[in-house]
Amino acid sequence: MRKISLKLGLLFFVFVFAIEMSLFTALYVTLVDAKIHEEFEHLLARGNNHRAVLESHYDEITLQHVVMMESEAETDVAITNEKGDILYFSDHIFPIAKRWIDQTKLNDIPYDGKVIQDNWKNERYIATASPIRINGKITGYVYMFQKTSSIQRMINQLKHHFIIAGMLSVGLTIITIFFLSRAITIPLIRMKRATEKLSKGDFSVRLQVKGKDELAQLGKAIQTLAKDLEYLKKERNEFLASISHELRTPLTYVKGYADIARRPTLEEEERAKYLSIIYEEAEHMQKLVKDLFELAKMDQHSFQIEKEPTPLCLFFKKIYEKMYPAFQTKNMSLVYRCDEDITVHIDQQRFEQVMMNLLDNALKYSHQGSTVFIDVRMEKKNVMIMISDEGIGIPEADLPHIFERFYRVDKSRSRTGGGTGLGLAIVKEIVEAHGGSIYATSQCRKGTTMIITLPKGDEHVHDITS
Ligand SMILES: Nc1ncnc2c1ncn2[C@@H]1O[C@H](COP(=O)(O)OP(=O)(O)OP(=O)(O)O)[C@@H](O)[C@H]1O
Ligand SMILES: [Mg+2]
Repeated sequence: MRKISLKLGLLFFVFVFAIEMSLFTALYVTLVDAKIHEEFEHLLARGNNHRAVLESHYDEITLQHVVMMESEAETDVAITNEKGDILYFSDHIFPIAKRWIDQTKLNDIPYDGKVIQDNWKNERYIATASPIRINGKITGYVYMFQKTSSIQRMINQLKHHFIIAGMLSVGLTIITIFFLSRAITIPLIRMKRATEKLSKGDFSVRLQVKGKDELAQLGKAIQTLAKDLEYLKKERNEFLASISHELRTPLTYVKGYADIARRPTLEEEERAKYLSIIYEEAEHMQKLVKDLFELAKMDQHSFQIEKEPTPLCLFFKKIYEKMYPAFQTKNMSLVYRCDEDITVHIDQQRFEQVMMNLLDNALKYSHQGSTVFIDVRMEKKNVMIMISDEGIGIPEADLPHIFERFYRVDKSRSRTGGGTGLGLAIVKEIVEAHGGSIYATSQCRKGTTMIITLPKGDEHVHDITS
């Protein structure tokens, strides 16, 4: 569970630590450099000051005065003649001063002075030299000395501060990263748990989703997925219940009538009647199974529609010719009105199925002597196909449900008419696979109109699920 936060945390830490360390080191080095430089400058300036005083008053009193001043201070002084022999010096500086002054090449010292000992890390003193020039002639040198112990102490203190600051920032980094990686991973872990619950079939997943970032979007997606799965599961259960219900009734008939029909005492005429009932019921089951198979194919993504440009008027003429006899038998009229010659891209076979189902309904749910109209019209960029009848109509309460699988307004009437309640569900799937839509308007005892809207000029082949 915690693996991802650990990984993220470590990764963050390594990067931030590296950045922090290099920044701290750079800062430390520059700071130390600046400090040391300042010390040298300071010492040199002090030497140059003494030199300036001596240049204007080069006498015994002034010389002693300078030496006396330095014996009080942190620094020491040695004054030499032009050859480098020490004339005056403060405190115990003599042995070191002598050694270093002897090593110094006098000609190399510029008038602004020079650092002659800069090894502050290992030597006890740092030292500078400033020449005294009177009337354009070098008459001697002022050597300044400063103990390195104070510098070292200062640098050590600095180092100490840096280490504390470094440790503090590393500690803060660790704490920050700990909370940061938790903040990122906790929602992830919650989502992982949620999906685990989902895969076990528990759809009661509720994630608290805050914000609009990718994580929040993922959370929302999982929640939607949970809802969809819950709905699908419910639908599947209902669907299976309906199927078994639908099959149970005809099977009961078949079994019952077969039982009667096999009685030897039965009249031949009676037997024929029962057998024909059995045949009808078997036919009904066959249609049911065929429709179910059709719907299952659509669900399984294996159903492709192949669109081809189709002149609608011609297409409806063919359908009209096919259906007309059935309408005539029931003493009904079928009228199709197609003014413009509209060409649309449809899967002809599938669309014929749509029309057959709708006309079958119009025929089934209308009275003798009534008329059914097919109208085709262009409306903006869409093609509208309307099938209107003057039949029994659909009650307003049932209207939103008629496209659901197995939904029938009047169960008993539909069953004797051979209806399974799958016709409109298939119609809807096919129309939607064409990128279109279907809806119904109806008035009880006045008639029903089914309206299909199809986009024109879409030449792409669609998968049913797209
Ligand atoms: N034109 C119509 N007039 C009145 N009611 C209709 C009409 N079309 C559909 N219905 C109602 O909607 C229900 C569902 O229609 P659908 O075509 O899906 O099923 P069916 O006709 O009962 O069975 P199937 O079409 O599978 O043989 C029908 O049972 C009927 O009650
Ligand atoms: Mg039908």
